Amino acid sequence: MSKSTLSITDNRTGRQYEIAVQEGAIRAVDLKQIKLSDDDAGLTTYDPGFLNTAACRSAISFIDGDRGILRYRGYPIEQLAEKSSFLETAYLLLQGELPTASELDAWVYNITHHTIVHESIKKFIDGFHHDAHPMGMFVSTVAALSTFYPDAKHITDEHSRRDQIFRLIAKAPTLAAFAYRHSVGMPYAYPDNDLSYTGNFLNMMFKATEVKYTPNKTLEHALDVLFILHADHEQNCSTSAMRGVGSSHADPYSAMAAAAAALYGPLHGGANEEVLRMLRQIGARENIPAYIERVKRGEFRLMGFGHRVYKNYDPRAKIIKRVADEVFDVTGKNPLIDIAVELERIALQDDYFVSRKLYPNVDFYSGIIYEAMRFPMDMFPVLFAIGRTPGWLAQWQEMLLDKEQRIARPRQLYIGSDTRDYVPIEQRR
Ligand code: CMC
Repeated sequence: MSKSTLSITDNRTGRQYEIAVQEGAIRAVDLKQIKLSDDDAGLTTYDPGFLNTAACRSAISFIDGDRGILRYRGYPIEQLAEKSSFLETAYLLLQGELPTASELDAWVYNITHHTIVHESIKKFIDGFHHDAHPMGMFVSTVAALSTFYPDAKHITDEHSRRDQIFRLIAKAPTLAAFAYRHSVGMPYAYPDNDLSYTGNFLNMMFKATEVKYTPNKTLEHALDVLFILHADHEQNCSTSAMRGVGSSHADPYSAMAAAAAALYGPLHGGANEEVLRMLRQIGARENIPAYIERVKRGEFRLMGFGHRVYKNYDPRAKIIKRVADEVFDVTGKNPLIDIAVELERIALQDDYFVSRKLYPNVDFYSGIIYEAMRFPMDMFPVLFAIGRTPGWLAQWQEMLLDKEQRIARPRQLYIGSDTRDYVPIEQRR
């Protein structure tokens, strides 16, 4: 009869161990019993970049990287992108179930009525240099919010947690839009509660002299879909940062600032910005083969390609390609799309990419749409951050309520000097 255990023979000592296997995993602490001697700290695992280490049990999002599947709380991303709204998806991620009509109304009302930021935040943003990157401003202002809401420290209080969740989801677009307006020297546009979450964001971004801003319905919907696609993605770099900082019981603003900082990097949420730079640099379809050769020589990476988990087409990239057509019907075609499509076609026929299972990821096409919608390139990671906010918060809350979780504190394999005596400076050579 098969047993759900793993038998290990330690060839150093000849001892045998039987370790439980649950949910396809062994517990790393079970390896500690495998020792050379009584004073040995026991066997540990070495996993730089967490290639094969689960740090939590989670019920929020599911990825099957080989089959290109993404689900939030069991619902396929394709169905949510087609039928849900961003705020409804946020509710699903945070509460675990789709809301009833009255639950959704209350949820939307609460988020809509937390969009305004304290006037001092405006002064704070005013202090940034005119060419400050909006993501730098976003990271800093999210962190600054913690000083406005000292009650956020009460992370074990369910009501306090709920209030901060409303505030963060509601204020993320406000901070993002204010950062943009500062960078282009435009007066801040205040939230308009008559508009949808995404419509209001477009209002705060692009409202000029008109008394009331009316968002284009197609663009409003396209952006809403893009936010849904970015809303959660299991234990990626920024979510791990959110959980890691949150595990020290820091308030959610500080934890989310850390998450947003992690997202800023070009290997993560900053990739969408890099994709546009890359497509511009390529400039024309005939330059693609030479560019690909340089990627294969290891000079640089093809941005928007590859993923730690997806070894198949990223399902989000497929949806984004469809959204692009809807957006271009309104905005006119972004010529970079032709270069991107051809780049994808050539890469997916090339053994370098095929053998490494490198496919377009979410960032490959998103920037082209954002640009068509008049978002400047340096706003792209900020848009990613707005979409990811509910996911970060859902993961943070799940971590706090998980009795198994403790402060994140990985081990290391020490490879430095053995003990040695301090040498006075005059005796050093
Ligand atoms: N272009 C060229 N080669 C690549 C690329 C790429 N974009 N991505 C991976 N490779 C190669 C890499 O050189 C390595 O080859 P070899 O085995 O010969 O050394 C192999 O594929 C495996 O790569 P890896 O770096 O071990 O893979 P990883 O899982 O550590 O990295 C990644 C994942 C997303 C950081 C990486 O694929 C990458 O840098 N992609 C470009 C940046 C990007 O698009 N990031 C957005 C990710 S999706 C949105 C998000 O989650 O933020």
